[in-house]
Amino acid sequence: MCGIFGIVTNQNIKIGKIALESIKRLEYRGYDSCGIVSQHNNSLFVKKDAGKIDEINEYLKLDEFPNGSKLALAHTRWATHGPPTKINSHPHLDCTDKIAVIHNGILENFLELKEELLSKGHIFKSETDTEIIPHLIEEYLKQNKNLKEAIVSAIKRCEGAYGLAICHADYPNTIIACRKESPLIIGIDKGKTSYCASDIPAFLPYTKYCYILEDDELAILNAGSVEFFDIDNSDLPKQKKVQEINWNIDAAEKGGYQHFMLKEIYEEPSALRRTMKISPDSIKDFAIPLLTADHIYITAAGTSFHASLAGKFIITKFLGKYIEAIECSEFKTQLNNSLEENSIIIALSQSGETIDLIEPIRWAKKYKPSIKILSITNIVGSSITRYSDKVLVTQAGPEIGVAATKTFVTQILTLALVALEIAKLKNKDSQEEIQKYYEALQSVPDIIENFLEKNADLIKYIVSDLEKNLNFFFLARGASIATAKEGGLKLKEVACRFIEGYSAAHAKHGPISLVRDGYPIIFIAPPDETYERLLGNVMEFKARGGKIISLVIESDEKITNLSDITIRIPQPRDKYHNLFSSITFIPALQLLAYFAALEHNLDPDKPLNLAKTVTVH
Ligand code: M6R
Repeated sequence: MCGIFGIVTNQNIKIGKIALESIKRLEYRGYDSCGIVSQHNNSLFVKKDAGKIDEINEYLKLDEFPNGSKLALAHTRWATHGPPTKINSHPHLDCTDKIAVIHNGILENFLELKEELLSKGHIFKSETDTEIIPHLIEEYLKQNKNLKEAIVSAIKRCEGAYGLAICHADYPNTIIACRKESPLIIGIDKGKTSYCASDIPAFLPYTKYCYILEDDELAILNAGSVEFFDIDNSDLPKQKKVQEINWNIDAAEKGGYQHFMLKEIYEEPSALRRTMKISPDSIKDFAIPLLTADHIYITAAGTSFHASLAGKFIITKFLGKYIEAIECSEFKTQLNNSLEENSIIIALSQSGETIDLIEPIRWAKKYKPSIKILSITNIVGSSITRYSDKVLVTQAGPEIGVAATKTFVTQILTLALVALEIAKLKNKDSQEEIQKYYEALQSVPDIIENFLEKNADLIKYIVSDLEKNLNFFFLARGASIATAKEGGLKLKEVACRFIEGYSAAHAKHGPISLVRDGYPIIFIAPPDETYERLLGNVMEFKARGGKIISLVIESDEKITNLSDITIRIPQPRDKYHNLFSSITFIPALQLLAYFAALEHNLDPDKPLNLAKTVTVH
């Protein structure tokens, strides 16, 4: 969940400035403390503290390095072992202050290793798991191993997950990077500068060429060159294919918007248009196995789980089979004794790195090797792709805001494309009918664009009105329950408000007792097959004095007439568009959460305690 960055160069460039800017681009991964180490004249120079990068930079001047320094490591932390304090911030050093380590991940056996190292006289300064690594390396260096050998021996002792970048004061032109279950990418500006980072945007302004480090691989970075090794066969260098990144750094910058979250909501139409162009052959490849599977599960965490709930509705309509949606962290517990052969697991993950998802997938593959994993992710080459039989990559582009927005809509769209492919393959609905669904899906980006153009002020007004109330909730029926839940999650994340999305029917069995005069309830009300029943629910809440705010389509009348305020989605009234309402209705709730965060003076891009990619259990 932390962000790590390393640079080694032979150029006269300001590496301090580059290191600082690069960890700022990784700040979405964790932002409770940060640190930088530079290397010069056989010494290491560390600056670190708890707090946000900009605040720390004010007094520590993180970018000011000794003149002539050509190597630096930088880290932004999401605390796991030990609270966010200066001492617990990375980098961590050994007893000789020669070895510096930055780490993303968790070492599970650190307590026993720490005991062992303490008994050998090592002195620890922090409460972190990471600090055992420099001390272990120090121990192996004492056994006359060179730096690579010592690092290999040390990490072979470590159980758990790690992305690591390591430097040594006496190895002036060398960073050693290795990974297991935590992402690490190597960037190369040939002959000049090498980079390593947890994510591509860190070095994208400087090079478009990269290598994706795989589990149990180690890379030795020198200025402008890199060598790769397998940890288990570390004498022989191995070849890896360089990849060219085809997106621009603009995509990972705010581009005039106050926050990434707002920018990314406004990018939804273009993200959807790109995702619409996923190759039809790969969609078909993904769809075919679903036709013959005996059991289908869909699993994910957080926002991706809500996309699964919405997407399974669309797929089930054409597939005609039950798809069970299970939160990934509960997957193994629920299916431990009942996962059968000829099952398919559809796994959704923006990052492709969420450990709560990777674990059950690995377990399922091991437990029943015949099971197929079909995954949808936004990140090419991410961990989930290694365990998957088929992969579809959403084309949302980099999503930097911690709150998932454009990736949510592109995930549902991708599942909708699979659903329509299933309809074609099954040949049950007429081709003309299927074409109408396609046309409706193609018009989704325009609907959202139109909505966003005209409605920001209305949403701002609703937010200021809602702020008078301590509580409110989102209610819906059918597929829109996923929309309601996602709206609730967004408000919790970015505005620190415990607002729930709930089934409108179920709300009668409990939450209705909260309603008093003027208590706001936001109904998500596309005119689908649940509309008339939802109308009944609206009346029940209105009869108890509830203030009704509704999300409806432009031509809506019945629920509009019962509402105090309506948010109107410019969507035609037909079953074709209704099927995709979970995509067209969500931007309103995302904007609502965004403006609510501003109302509370919170930074929506950096919600308290959260990180974009959750790689711990
Ligand atoms: O990268 P993933 O889609 O696997 O992430 C899953 C959740 O951690 C993620 O959706 C989380 O809930 C976001 N912060 C939502 O905005």
